[in-house]
Amino acid sequence: MKTQVIKINENSIDIKALEKAADIIKVGGLVAIPTETVYGLGADGLNPEAVKKIFQAKNRPGDNPLILHIADFQDIYRLAKDIREDDLVILKKLWPGPLTVVLKKKDIVPLEVSAGLETVAIRMPDKDVTRELIRLCKSPLAAPSANLSTKPSPTNALDTLEDMDGRIEAVLDAGPCSIGIESTVLDLTEDVATILRPGFYTREFLANYWQDVELDTALKNDKQAPKSPGQKYKHYAPNAEVRVLVANKKIFLEESKKILDNNKDKKIGLMVFEDSLKDFVSYESVNLGNRDNLLEMSKILFEGLRQLDKKGVDLIIVNGVEEKGYGASIMNRLKKSASGNVKIY
Ligand code: TXA
Ligand code: MG
Repeated sequence: MKTQVIKINENSIDIKALEKAADIIKVGGLVAIPTETVYGLGADGLNPEAVKKIFQAKNRPGDNPLILHIADFQDIYRLAKDIREDDLVILKKLWPGPLTVVLKKKDIVPLEVSAGLETVAIRMPDKDVTRELIRLCKSPLAAPSANLSTKPSPTNALDTLEDMDGRIEAVLDAGPCSIGIESTVLDLTEDVATILRPGFYTREFLANYWQDVELDTALKNDKQAPKSPGQKYKHYAPNAEVRVLVANKKIFLEESKKILDNNKDKKIGLMVFEDSLKDFVSYESVNLGNRDNLLEMSKILFEGLRQLDKKGVDLIIVNGVEEKGYGASIMNRLKKSASGNVKIY
């Protein structure tokens, strides 16, 4: 299959181009779509045959459910039932945005989307062009991150093509994503709102809206089975081995020098904050931006892992951050990239 790239300028949306993408989706094809978090692999979320193709294209395990992306608030009523009035009021404030909620599903949602569960994950992405596409499709779009299963999520069209070229009909290219890690997944089916996957919206932030916000116990304890099936799989892993050092500038320099000295036979890449770049000029390195602005880090995180893979490095050393606030969401991804190889100083 030849994968088309459909370029779109967000500031002056070419409806003809969007219609091309919608036409593919309406007949059951796959189109990778931009969102503010990461690129998604979109299909008609109410068409079971189209949804099955998503699992094939990604090599995704069949028990890992998909998020339905909606364009307008009222779409939620078509897909979910028994929604609390208070939750609706809050969602009206937080959507569109990087928040996915898990609710009881209506029968219209195929079991292929929910992977057999009686719940459905729903999100309204904060990208006008993507919401416009969803409207043209007249159906919610099922869309997991557009990577091959186990790989880092793509945050631009080129990285999407790296995994999906030849596997899907088209990529809608609206440039790079502004957040770079996936949405926060919040379960609203129990008494207390529970974070199943951390993201840009942190527990602290969500506590401004919900009185109680808990973290799924599996996020705190590795032995517990996660409620979000996707959390249990190998994930966000480049080909290279990854080691994360949670340290300030000085200690990171000392500790990474030790690793570099002990691994002279390996090609090593680094992901460091801009204040450390000059310490590693003779190595392949990725700039994580300002240590005090973690959005700069999340925006480049997955792209950086892919870039270093392309340079053919064997080992990637990453300057990790403290697990608090947004840092906890970033570290949730990094720990998986590193298969738990994280040292805290
Ligand atoms: O930012 C995002 O959320 C991106 C963009 C494309 O919207 N999408 C994304 O989808 O990250 P995916 O499929 O890669 O991750 C969805 C996560 C998985 O961990 C999945 O197990 C969980 O949401 N999930 C989906 N439906 C669920 C449900 N009914 N109950 C519990 N967890 C669910
Ligand atoms: Mg994913």
